[in-house]
Amino acid sequence: MSFDYKIQFDEENKLKHFLNIELLTENHINEILALAKHFATEESNKFKDLEGKTIASLFFEPSTRTKTTFELASKRLSADFINIDILNSSTLKGESVLDMIKTLEAMSCDMFIVRHSISGTPHYIASEVGNTISIINAGDGTHSHPTQAMLDMYTIKKHKGGFKNLNVSIVGDILHSRVAKSIITSLKILGVNNINVIGPENLMPDNLKELKVSYHNSLEGGIDQADVVIMLRLQKERMHEALISIEDYYKNFGLTKNKIATAKKDVIVMHPGPINRGVEIDSDVADGPNSVILDQVTAGISVRMAIMSLVLKNKCFKK
Ligand code: CP
Repeated sequence: MSFDYKIQFDEENKLKHFLNIELLTENHINEILALAKHFATEESNKFKDLEGKTIASLFFEPSTRTKTTFELASKRLSADFINIDILNSSTLKGESVLDMIKTLEAMSCDMFIVRHSISGTPHYIASEVGNTISIINAGDGTHSHPTQAMLDMYTIKKHKGGFKNLNVSIVGDILHSRVAKSIITSLKILGVNNINVIGPENLMPDNLKELKVSYHNSLEGGIDQADVVIMLRLQKERMHEALISIEDYYKNFGLTKNKIATAKKDVIVMHPGPINRGVEIDSDVADGPNSVILDQVTAGISVRMAIMSLVLKNKCFKK
């Protein structure tokens, strides 16, 4: 599937939507991270940046972290926030996603936050809405989860100080992971060249060569030099058949206390969540001294505030 990556920029190359990481520059990412730091470190947690704006979230897939942090972020920026209850919406009476968006557009919404199981849905909506509307991709199929990648970059920078010379290992179901793809693209833009992907061969995408990452089929062999280890969930909801047994997976790729002991002492362990304890990660590690998993959740608020604020306050994109 191909995507129109240019659609998220206006004619002055400013962000009009936030749909994917591709075509972002190091400056774009640094601007997001700096503004997120400002929101995270100010004494007040209430800002007027989006006063008078209306933001609606449409989650066609389950979510805890993304949905809640977008709502908190909107409220902290003083926007009016509507959480559309998809299961009780008119989509159940046959209304299309686009007709639903057009209906909400007629109620003067300024921004839609969209999660959908079909890759490309946020891009499609962005190509169809009026010029005053912004779309934020909150995760589309196996394609992209750009706000997750930005909060992950924020967390890495906070704990490691920067990106140069970092060695990052991503473990698990890369094939079905929109998070892994957005993280790899972000790391490359930020100059990280030592990226390892680790997992069973049948959970790797076909384009590993194109991604310019090193593949390892042994967990210990792939994490021993890592500064950052990012664990992923087996995304069974996106598998058409059982591709691996949980027992085999845990035995070979589950991160245990003994396995993390083979990595650098100051390695940080990340996971976008939701975590499956005893499958890809043990509680000893998830709750252990190297884990920054809950820091990632916290970063989700200020990073999403930064993205929404930059997109909606874009000077070239006024009503
Ligand atoms: N990381 C992530 O997208 O989590 P949720 O599915 O809980 O939003």
